[in-house]
Amino acid sequence: MSEIKNVKACVFDAYGTLFDIHAPTAAIANELGDKAQSLSDMWRGKQLQYTWLRSLMGKYTDFWQVTGDGLDYALAAHDIDNADIRNRLMDLYMTLDAYPDAMSTLQQLKDANLATGILSNGSPKMLAAAVEASGLKPHLDQVLSVQEVGIFKPAPQVYQMAVDRFGLERNEICFVSANAWDASGAADFGFQVAHLNRFNQPPEGLPGKPKAIMKSLSELPPVVR
Ligand code: 2OP
Repeated sequence: MSEIKNVKACVFDAYGTLFDIHAPTAAIANELGDKAQSLSDMWRGKQLQYTWLRSLMGKYTDFWQVTGDGLDYALAAHDIDNADIRNRLMDLYMTLDAYPDAMSTLQQLKDANLATGILSNGSPKMLAAAVEASGLKPHLDQVLSVQEVGIFKPAPQVYQMAVDRFGLERNEICFVSANAWDASGAADFGFQVAHLNRFNQPPEGLPGKPKAIMKSLSELPPVVR
């Protein structure tokens, strides 16, 4: 039985949680061959590393720039020097596919009179494009970007935005992320957290433990409504 109780809003991480970050390389896997998954994994790893390092350095830039810098590193590390491939991968990243379980889960939460939102490292432009292209926009009350506070997750200022924008107490918000480190940061901040363990990650050695671990977003509505 989940420990998540008495929440009034469900707030979601975007990339890896609602949107499939491996869709771009999968879309051109025929051109990438056996490098496709390794390239995607390194791209994601570098993108996140750069967010953490830039936050520590006090050198914030938007997630689109960081996503491009991470891709450039990963392409070089895989000996892929091809501007056309780079540009197509970036274009695909702007309108990522939503995971199959995203739309129905948001609809069920809205039907249960819960507020819904995104809280993401993504830039406002990236998030607007993704929610529009995926059709999720009508089921989201708020779409919040770290651009507003100029620092990336898991900085507490980021999670504070959801408290301020929804006008709720920390423990009235259920936060959902497929990124275990983000789930820890949000739990440490005081949200009731569900870790969507899409990638079968072991628990992080970090402060803040999720109250629920799920394999699919479809497990969420019965727990929170
Ligand atoms: C997000 O903020 C961490 O990439 C993840 O959407």
